[in-house]
Amino acid sequence: MSNNRVVRLASRPVGMVVRDNFEVAEEDMPEPGEGEFRVKVAYISLDPAMRGWVAEGRSYVPPVQIGATMRAFAAGYVEASNHADYKEGEAVIGLFGVQHYAISDGNNVVKANTSLAPLEAWVGGLGMPGVTAYFGLLEVGEAREGDTVVVSAASGAVGSIVGQIAKIKGCRAVGIAGGPEKCAYIVDELGFDAAIDYKNEDLREAIKRTCPDGIDVNFENVGGEIMDAVLGRMNTFGRVAICGMISMYNSTEPPKALANLRSILVNRLKVRGFIVFDFVEKYGEALQTLGKWHAEGKLKLRQDVRDGGIEAFPDVLNLLYTGGNFGKLVLKV
Ligand SMILES: NC(=O)c1ccc[n+]([C@@H]2O[C@H](COP(=O)([O-])OP(=O)(O)OC[C@H]3O[C@@H](n4cnc5c(N)ncnc54)[C@H](OP(=O)(O)O)[C@@H]3O)[C@@H](O)[C@H]2O)c1
Repeated sequence: MSNNRVVRLASRPVGMVVRDNFEVAEEDMPEPGEGEFRVKVAYISLDPAMRGWVAEGRSYVPPVQIGATMRAFAAGYVEASNHADYKEGEAVIGLFGVQHYAISDGNNVVKANTSLAPLEAWVGGLGMPGVTAYFGLLEVGEAREGDTVVVSAASGAVGSIVGQIAKIKGCRAVGIAGGPEKCAYIVDELGFDAAIDYKNEDLREAIKRTCPDGIDVNFENVGGEIMDAVLGRMNTFGRVAICGMISMYNSTEPPKALANLRSILVNRLKVRGFIVFDFVEKYGEALQTLGKWHAEGKLKLRQDVRDGGIEAFPDVLNLLYTGGNFGKLVLKV
């Protein structure tokens, strides 16, 4: 039987990751024990959080250790099973890592219904990013009919779903994205009410133009100057759901202070950071609703699937931090 191939963390990056931060290694094929199954990985999910996972320091999960297999959500098929609930050939999603084969006991594994959407969609809008958008907008952001919702990184895995859920719930959806192609996509294809091209427009002017009645919910994916500009136009009793701060993940400079923090006081804003794992008990509710909306044609999904195998992992990961991806970034194994 052939071996497993894995990507291990070799050193901690400074700034963007480089190939030398990882090593590709051969391992013996892992065999499932009692109550376990082996997954043949087909797609690896590339997530902005990975940059945080390889950094030292306190976070919401322990860092990946030097020499350990790189942590990753992935989608694949059960190949051999000693687990009563998982049969050979079933499509599954879990934290399987950047490798060709993984052993699982079923903990935090979700089965994917590939008759509803292709396997790679289950690490995107119908998986973790979709669940993040769902709870971040509806529970943390408390979005209600008639609200103006602004979301940054709006054409991406999470942002594209946030805007579409906002529309389903009767909100006005405004997306901030980089470049005319991404901006046209979120309005013309996804039904956002307006888009702001932060790379080519004056941010403050564009926010004023697209949000004439102010902003009730800011779904924050980027942080820094974009968040600051949005804060400046929040309405009284608005909500700021802090999902991510991608503009800071590779920064080697100390962060700049936000100029519009006073908006939190004068507008009595509710500002709350969240991690999708906070809602683990209710994933089923979100996945069922997202799947239903997708089947009804109300929720469009866009995957950006890259070739190159696990060797390409560091280069493909960096696309997230340069805006090189367009849709949910996935690496085909
Ligand atoms: N809290 C949670 O549990 C949770 C879960 C999942 C994701 N997240 C967060 O959600 C955010 C989006 O993640 P995703 O998976 O959906 O990624 P994504 O939006 O599919 O891809 C990342 C996008 O971020 C934008 N971006 C990157 N650097 C930027 C910068 N310096 N300034 C402005 N925009 C920048 C780029 O879009 P443009 O081309 O438009 O600039 C890029 O395409 C990230 O902050 C991530 O950490 C949080």
